[in-house]
Amino acid sequence: MLSYVLPLSAVLASLSMATPTVYLAGDSTMAKGGGGTGTEGWGVFLPYSLTIPVVNNAIGGRSARSFSDEGRFTAIAAKVVSGDFVIIEFGHNDGGSLTPTDNGRSDCVGAGSETCTTTAGVVVQTYPTYLTAAAKLMTAKGANVIISSPTPDNSCETVPCSYTAPRFTGYCEIVVTNVGSKASFVDHGQYVGNRYIALGATATDAFYPIDHTHTSPLGATSVAGQFVKGLLCNNSPLAQYVKNTTASIPGSCV
Ligand SMILES: *[C@@H]1O[C@H](CO)[C@@H](O)[C@H](O)[C@H]1NC(C)=O
Repeated sequence: MLSYVLPLSAVLASLSMATPTVYLAGDSTMAKGGGGTGTEGWGVFLPYSLTIPVVNNAIGGRSARSFSDEGRFTAIAAKVVSGDFVIIEFGHNDGGSLTPTDNGRSDCVGAGSETCTTTAGVVVQTYPTYLTAAAKLMTAKGANVIISSPTPDNSCETVPCSYTAPRFTGYCEIVVTNVGSKASFVDHGQYVGNRYIALGATATDAFYPIDHTHTSPLGATSVAGQFVKGLLCNNSPLAQYVKNTTASIPGSCV
């Protein structure tokens, strides 16, 4: 009788050799097509720096809340397998007020388990609550989660160029603490802000053809590069799949 049962050692070897996939969850600043009108999201340029495939599930106009409410994290979690990576970056659509009109995106302001109730009676959670739950869906499947602070708006809108972290950056660090060792943080906003300050106003302004949020393809290339710099500087678990050396990407580690 033939046996189709592989020895355990062969099964383990094939698992460890499987190529991981990187999934991206974010908003228009990461998404294919960016904010339209010739802009582009940085997730489109990340694959050039990695040796493993990237699935860009970022979508314009979404926040930690609406990406959750629409089942988009659940859909990614249904696909991830052990050893995959999920990069989560939100913030541009998470601010704003829940009253008088709830746009379906704004989170309840807070760093913990606070809730807010809209005029329509909808209970809204905080950014850390949404992203902690999302990240835990992924780590429960054995995936590595990278929580990334949001990209800055044009840091050179007023000169001299400057960068101040939004409250979401601190929230990202809280999410990583909540989730534990399968989660790590990249301070993407700080890396990009530093890069814009180094480039100066003329070069940075040219990255923003339509508004102060959405980048040109060249801008998105720079923003992707700074994310990769952050992976390398942090010795991220994803760094082993980066093609580039730390020194080859402009800027300093933060
Ligand atoms: C990393 O190296 C690849 C291959 O040379 C290149 O296409 C990519 O642009 C580089 N990434 C950065 C961030 O410099």
